[in-house]
Amino acid sequence: MITRHLDPERVTEAAELVRNGGLVVFPTETVYGLGANAFDEAAVQAIYQAKGRPSDNPVIVHVASYEVVEQAAAVVPPAARRLMARFWPGPLTLVLPASPRIARSVTAGLPTVGLRWPAHPLAERFLSLAGVPVAAPSANRSGRPSPTTYDAACQEMEGRVHAILRGPDCGVGLESTVVGLRDGAAVVYRPGAIGLEALEETLGIPVRRPEDSHPVASPGTRHPHYRPACPVLLFEAVGEIVDPRPGDWILTVGPAPAAWPGRTVVLPDLEDYARRLYALFREAEADGCDRLWCWLPPPQGLGLALRDRLRRAAGLD
Ligand code: TXA
Ligand code: MG
Repeated sequence: MITRHLDPERVTEAAELVRNGGLVVFPTETVYGLGANAFDEAAVQAIYQAKGRPSDNPVIVHVASYEVVEQAAAVVPPAARRLMARFWPGPLTLVLPASPRIARSVTAGLPTVGLRWPAHPLAERFLSLAGVPVAAPSANRSGRPSPTTYDAACQEMEGRVHAILRGPDCGVGLESTVVGLRDGAAVVYRPGAIGLEALEETLGIPVRRPEDSHPVASPGTRHPHYRPACPVLLFEAVGEIVDPRPGDWILTVGPAPAAWPGRTVVLPDLEDYARRLYALFREAEADGCDRLWCWLPPPQGLGLALRDRLRRAAGLD
């Protein structure tokens, strides 16, 4: 397949392609997405092919208007409306009862659909012009780290999609928080930039953490994810690092050893750690890093999301 590379001013062409059944990679504030018309079963099946993704893993649907929300969800409960009002556009995906118009492959047979309105001017323009809900998982081949730069998106999807819409580097860098509302309770299926604390504050009810939730409720979280080619090793305290070698890299915001034989990357804060994590995975891979030591932050706010991605990258979850 020949992939068209589209600059932002050609967003109309990108929107027409996706509306008419094509696969289009587009930037969002979290990671680049691999989009298809969510009403078009054949187009959505092509997403699974392009990614090499297991077909029991449902795909998030992107919207940029409440009109399209009504076309994609069968019901929008009051608690969901409160979350939308507070966090949309933004890195929050809400799992709601699906409209029968949504293609079956989007939901992988579940009665629900995950909806998100991204906070990214070019993504919003693309989605508004498309005029249909756009199903889009992260634009990586299955199991790989999500792309957070245009170059990484090209590296993953060149020759597999009809077009790639060029945007700036992603500002958040980790995938959205995925929340379901069931029986008067809220469950976080995947932690993200919007922390549990902020969700609880908005809803006024306890939000269950991913560990407490039912694993089969969000099938995608069972599959291996986010793994770079080099082994990832985790530490909370410097004393847990054993036998560092010259080919080893270390990524940290917190503790760092006084001397390190390989490359050291010290990030100023958790936001920067999240923003740059996947790009650093790719850089380490490209540089032939032997082992990548990553600091595990405490499990609050964005720290919970970082821990989740780091543990998966290390093959622990
Ligand atoms: O930030 C993001 O969410 C990015 C950008 C492109 O928006 N998208 C993304 O999509 O990460 P994907 O397909 O790679 O991840 C989808 C996650 C999976 O963990 C999946 O299991 C969960 O969302 N999910 C999707 N639909 C669901 C549903 N109906 N019920 C439960 N979980 C669902
Ligand atoms: Mg993904």
